[in-house]
Amino acid sequence: MDKLVIEGGVPLSGTVTISGAKNAALPILTAALLTGEALIVENVPHLRDVSTMLNLLMQMGVTTSLDEKGGVELRAEKITDPVAPYELVKTMRASVLVLGPLVARLGEARVSLPGGCAIGLRPVDQHLKGLQAMGATIAMEEGYMIARAGRLKGARICMDLVTVTGTENLMMAATLADGVTVIENAAREPEVPDLAACLTAMGAKISGAGTDVITVEGVERLHGARHSVMPDRIETGTFLVAVAATGGDVRLTGVRPDTLDAVLGKLREMGVSIETGSDWIQVRANGAKKAVNVRTAPYPAFPTDMQAQFMALNSVAQGASRVVETIFENRFMHVQELQRLGANIEVEGNTAVIKGVAGLNGATVMATDLRASASLVVAGLIARGKTTIERIYHLDRGYERIEEKLSKLGARIRRVN
Ligand code: EPU
Repeated sequence: MDKLVIEGGVPLSGTVTISGAKNAALPILTAALLTGEALIVENVPHLRDVSTMLNLLMQMGVTTSLDEKGGVELRAEKITDPVAPYELVKTMRASVLVLGPLVARLGEARVSLPGGCAIGLRPVDQHLKGLQAMGATIAMEEGYMIARAGRLKGARICMDLVTVTGTENLMMAATLADGVTVIENAAREPEVPDLAACLTAMGAKISGAGTDVITVEGVERLHGARHSVMPDRIETGTFLVAVAATGGDVRLTGVRPDTLDAVLGKLREMGVSIETGSDWIQVRANGAKKAVNVRTAPYPAFPTDMQAQFMALNSVAQGASRVVETIFENRFMHVQELQRLGANIEVEGNTAVIKGVAGLNGATVMATDLRASASLVVAGLIARGKTTIERIYHLDRGYERIEEKLSKLGARIRRVN
């Protein structure tokens, strides 16, 4: 199993290009199931979760190839097996995103229930409630959700809570339904309007994506299209935090600063210098950072996917801070690992209190989930001496060549087997 070895304490400098967004690419790839024509997706990041999704789609009969511009071409001319098996769903919960498209196009889907997850319970009841409102019947058999429908019917759906993939699943299902669907209390995360832009290019009629009320007027059929995936705002945020943590001067290119208001605001509050253009961010950090309080909540508030990285940063900031996690009930697993590096953090319920220390010291730590792993990389870049991070397969799910990108900025980081 691969490990990362980091010798911390080097300020970062140079330019880094940010990849396409994992959490936009995954739903957009499943949108290929909605048409028999070719969907060409550009700026797809090279990640383990993307490979898992492509494998899942290929098992269903979708053909995939690379076009001359490096775009992924998907063609779901004939869906032979509308099944998402347990073996794949357990490794990637986003597999549930095939449910809406399959029911809408074929009237049938068999998707394994995801089972336990490291960061929280993560039920999918809202996905199912929405599909039922559109006329699907749902049965549970041997750990699988079996959804069946004739043509789905437009419906007014009020989500009990804000769910990103739930909103995406229902928006995709509604594109082929008979009549108008209104999704209230919809997720406003930027990945939702990115998916809507792709669906619109395929012929869907969607308004309101990016607000909390999305209206979809169903059409008879969708057609092929070409779409470029938006930049990854969480990879962007992770690099910003890494620079803030080590000090230095880095330009991030291929980014969408407009999707990062809460994160940029917190970094500025810490005393980090941030300049932005339409598709770049220049980050400069020198000297001490001021500890900041963070409370995660649905977009446009502070993202849960940046909570762990900010905890690492706060651990060496001046003063005490509180980090409150309101989205997932078990997303503090990085705390014990950060403590092993010398961080002073106490957890009570969904709140962590961090008292800034002068520095961290290298040690061997273990990655437990994707963003927890990113926080350990940040901590390793700060720490004196050698930090070894084990189980980095979590990191490979969501960060493209992170050690190469960091090395180019001057970090002493290498992957060992
Ligand atoms: N929830 C329910 N019922 C549902 C759906 C969600 O109770 O039917 C709850 C969840 O248990 C959670 C909250 O609602 O407490 C929000 O979950 P959400 O459904 O929004 O999460 P998700 O769609 O499964 C996506 C991202 C996550 C990100 C969250 C929150 C993708 C593929 N995944 O997950 O990304 O943390 O939104 O922003 O888009 C990551 O990239 O590391 C990651 C975990």
